[in-house]
Formats: sequence, structure tokens, C-alpha cells
Amino acid sequence: MRFTYECCDCGKVFESEEVLYQCPECAEKNDGSSFPKGNLIVKLNKEDLEELAKREHVTMYDFFPYTIPTPEVYPVGGTPIAKPARLAKKYGLKNLTCKLDSALPSGSFKDRASQLIAAQAIAHKQNRIALASTGNAGAAMSCAGAAYGLEIILFVPATAPINKLMQSVLYGATVVPVKGTYDDAFALSIAYTKKFGGINRNTAYNPMTIEGKKSISIELFEQMGRKAPDVVYVPVGDGCIYAGVFKGFYDLKEAGLINKMPHIICVQSKQSNAISKAWETGDFSCIDAATTRADSISVESPANGRMAVRYINECDGWATQVDDSEILEAQLELTREAGIFVEPAAACAWAGVKKDNKMLIEKFGEDVSVCTLLTGTGFKDMAVFTGRVSIPEAIENSTEAVIKRFE
Ligand SMILES: Cc1ncc(COP(=O)(O)O)c(C=O)c1O
Repeated sequence: MRFTYECCDCGKVFESEEVLYQCPECAEKNDGSSFPKGNLIVKLNKEDLEELAKREHVTMYDFFPYTIPTPEVYPVGGTPIAKPARLAKKYGLKNLTCKLDSALPSGSFKDRASQLIAAQAIAHKQNRIALASTGNAGAAMSCAGAAYGLEIILFVPATAPINKLMQSVLYGATVVPVKGTYDDAFALSIAYTKKFGGINRNTAYNPMTIEGKKSISIELFEQMGRKAPDVVYVPVGDGCIYAGVFKGFYDLKEAGLINKMPHIICVQSKQSNAISKAWETGDFSCIDAATTRADSISVESPANGRMAVRYINECDGWATQVDDSEILEAQLELTREAGIFVEPAAACAWAGVKKDNKMLIEKFGEDVSVCTLLTGTGFKDMAVFTGRVSIPEAIENSTEAVIKRFE
């Protein structure tokens, strides 16, 4: 599909066959004290989009600016939609659904961005992709690299969670721990691509990360019988997933396939609430310290904060903040009452639905269709259960022991 780029902040349009990252004029002014400027939005050709409306079915691939080579090699998408009946009854939400992106190849939503970045690299005849990540993005890109035979250079803060890092090492990426923060790793990965070439996949810095993430909305549209849910709950850190979800529905609307955007809700931990605060106050300053236990959404300077705030307003969405204790409770509730096992960042979205429960019913009625995006599997972070859940002691290998145990 034909496309151009538009700066999210100054609106300047860029027409380029080359790989573009940011609007140079806006990005030049970034000083680290407030949310970065200059991220680019991929604008699809309106005529090409309208052609899609004539089709009986569309797939996410139809809406991508790059062709995905042999999608079955790295099968991203088609994740199940669960209808958690017990929770629907408990909370009086008849049309409650959960989109299980925890079922993607590397176990998180980030595969959606990595799929398109791999396609971008292949289209531009590049074999090397560098990025900074604290976990899921690195694991997803490394997974794509293993599937397509691409070289992945991953810069991570040395303190990053071990389980997610181990995944990237196992997939065969070159992992470079940095004695510094995620922001330091981000800067070093850019320095790397400037010196050694290749594609840079840093979240939001490469606009194709947002574009790849939009595939979830196209999928939801088809899976739900060619309509969008009324309300979609998204867990938010950098605001890149949020923007991707928005962009998918936006493209569907531009194509004429839906006539109204769903309300897309930004859910954050109160211990990492930069975007929610900016949406409430209009102040785009970075926060001092993000301390949430949900490590994937722990962000002080959100890489895509400005675009996310703009989109919350454009779709008549809102920001809901929850405590870490509510996130951890939501995680256990999903596991025990819906059979859905997700990492804390993903559970944050469900905690948001719980918090807004009464308001949703008052505002839209109990028939409102609410979709919760569950973005990462629980196996990503088993350490979070330490001290909260324990494995029972072993019994002796005897019938007597069984009787004693259950009598
Ligand atoms: C599982 C999971 N959920 C949610 C998010 C938040 O996405 P974003 O940082 O784009 O807001 C992330 C980001 O790493 C994630 O890994």
C-alpha cells in the first residue's frame, strides 16, 4: 500500500522511499525533560484504503505499508478472543471479551511490531536490526530474527529482568547489557545503527513499530463480525501500543469500514502514570520515578506520549489509573476465574475495566461491548508470585498420605 509520513507535532509531510525515523526539526529540540517530539505517523493512501472497503473480508496484511514475506514463517496474529463468562457475570458486563495476545510467538503483543520491522528490513535489503528494550520488544525481535534469519543487536539495561533477557539470548540475538538506564540503551542503539548501519527498531522512534501494532484492531474488526467493540482497554507505558490500536481503527474508518472510533482507554499504574497525568493536566513533563512492579509499563519519559495523549482525545477515550495492588489482584482474578494467565502489565488493562465497571454500565448500559487487550503471558515474570502464592508441600508416596491429606 502507498504511504507517506506525517510529523505528529508539526504536521510536516515526508515522502520517501527510504527508511525514515523522526521529523528532524522537531526531534532536534528534544532535551529529555519532556515527552519527546517528532514521532512520525504513517499515512496510508486514501484511494488504496477505500479500495479495501469493497472487499468481503480484509486481513491485517492488506493495511500494511510493507508486504510481510511468508507470514507462516513467523505467524503473528489470529490470536483468540476469550469470552470470560464468570467475570462477565460477576461484573454485569454481558459483552466482555479478552484478546489473548499472550498467545503470540514470543508471548507478547510486541511480535506485531517486530513482524512489520522484519518486513521493512527485508524490503530494504538489510540483514541487521538493532534496538533497545527492557524485555518483551527484545524477545519479540529476537524471535523474528530467528525465524527469518536476521541479525538482532539488542541493547538492554544491565538490570533488566532475567527471564525476558534469557528469551532473547536463547533466540540467538547479540545481547549487549549496558551499565545505565533504558534511555541510555536507547541512545546507544541509535549510535550503533548510525555507525554500523541496519534498521533501528526502537519503539516509536521507528514509526513502523506503531504501524505493526495496529494489526490487532483489523483482526478484532473481522473476528467480531466486521464491527469494532464499543470500548477497548489498553495497558500503557510508552504509549506505542495505544497509538497502534488507535491507528488500526483509524485506518478502518478512513477506508469506510467502520463509521465511528471505539473509545480507547489508556490504563496505567499510578506508580507509572506519565501519559495519564499529561492527558489530565496538559503538562508533558517526564515523571521523576516510575516504580510499578509491572515492569513492561514502567516508564518515566514515554517515547510516544504526545501521540498517545492526542489520540486519547481524538477517540473520546480517557485515562484510568490503578494501584499496583489492584494490578496484582486483577492478575490472580484472571487466572483463577477466567483461566487466563498474563504478566502484570497485561493485567493492568483488566484492573482498569474493574475500576471503571460501574461507570461503564451507567454511561453505555450493560450491553456495552468491552474488549480488554491482554498483551503478555504470565510465564514472562514468575518472580512476581514470590510470597503471594506457594506450592503445597509434597506428600509421602502412599495411599495413607492421600487419605490423611484429604480427610
Ligand atoms: C506486555 C506489555 N503490555 C503493555 C505494554 C505497554 O506498551 P507501550 O509501552 O507501547 O505503552 C508493554 C510494553 O513493553 C508490554 O510489554
